[in-house]
Amino acid sequence: MKKTAHLRRLVPLLAAACLLSPLPIKAAEVSSWPAGQERRISSDDSQIQRELSKFAELPNSRPERLDRYAAWAQLYPKRKAEAVVFQVNLDLDREFYETPEEAADPANLMVLVNKHNILPADYVPELEALGADYGSGALRPEAAQAFRAMAGAAREDGVTLYSVSAYRSYSRQANAYNRYLGQYSRKTVDTFSARPGHSEHQTGLAVDINAASRKAHFEKTPAFAWLVEHCAEYGFILRYDQGKEAVTGYRFEPWHYRYVGVETAQSCMKQGLSYEEYLGLQPESGEEPGLTPAFMPESIPVSVMEGESIEV
Ligand code: DAL
Ligand code: ZN
Repeated sequence: MKKTAHLRRLVPLLAAACLLSPLPIKAAEVSSWPAGQERRISSDDSQIQRELSKFAELPNSRPERLDRYAAWAQLYPKRKAEAVVFQVNLDLDREFYETPEEAADPANLMVLVNKHNILPADYVPELEALGADYGSGALRPEAAQAFRAMAGAAREDGVTLYSVSAYRSYSRQANAYNRYLGQYSRKTVDTFSARPGHSEHQTGLAVDINAASRKAHFEKTPAFAWLVEHCAEYGFILRYDQGKEAVTGYRFEPWHYRYVGVETAQSCMKQGLSYEEYLGLQPESGEEPGLTPAFMPESIPVSVMEGESIEV
C-alpha cells in the first residue's frame, strides 16, 4: 500500500485517539462517511496529515507503523521524526515479548529473530553438519560453508575457531531455557537465553564459537579479536555486542555470530550496528542505499541488564 493511502486511512484513527488522550495535535472531527465518497479534509485533518507526513516521508519509515510513530512521538514530543521512526523500527515502543510477530519467511537469509520476532515452532531449516574438524553441530549449507572458510582462514593466522553450539531446534531451546529457569529468575534468564521460538539458533544461521559462557571471558582472547576483524569477510556478525543490550535484549555474547551474508555483515560491522539497527535504517523501497549511522539519533535508551550475577 502506498504511504499516502496509509496516511488517509490513519487520519480518522488518529483523530479518534486525539479525543481520548492529550495529544500535541488537535482533535479532528470524527465521523464516518459513505463508502466510495471522498471525504472533505478538515483543517484539523490536514494538521494530522502534516504530523504523519513528517514520518511517512522518511526513507526508512514503514507505512504500517505510522500509527506507532504518532503514538511514540506523543510520548516523546521533543524527539525528531528521524529518532521516532528509527526507534519504532527497533520496536522500542513495545515491551519484549509483548506482541511477537511470526516470521513470514523463516527461511529468508535475512530473517530477524529476536524478542519481538518469532519463528514457527515447527520450522526446521535445511542443515549441513559442520564436520569433525569444526566442532559440533550443523548450520544451513551457506552458513556452514562460510564457517568452514572462516575457520580455515583463522587457522592460517594461528587462531583456532570451532563451534560449540550451532542449530538448536525449538524443543532443544525450550529445554535449555527451562533448565535455566530452575536456577535463575525469569528476568535474569531472559538476559542470556532466548525463549523457544525466539532463538537465532533455530534459524540454522547462528553459531557459538569456542565458548558459550561468560566465565570463559572469550572477549579477552585472540580468537575474539580475530573474529571482530574478519567475521564480516565471511558473512558473519557479532550479534549481541556491548552497548546494544536495549536493542538486542541480551547481555554481551562475544561468542555468538550470525550469518547474514558478506555485504550486510560488512555494513553492520564497519558501522558498529546491531542487526536490528541495520534493518531499522534500511529504506522501505529497497532500491535506495541504507541510511548511515550519522542519521541515527543518539537518544536510544540504554537499559541496564538487571538480575543476579550469573555463572553461565
Ligand atoms: N543465547 C542466545 C540469546 C540464545 O539463547 O539464542
Ligand atoms: Zn548463541
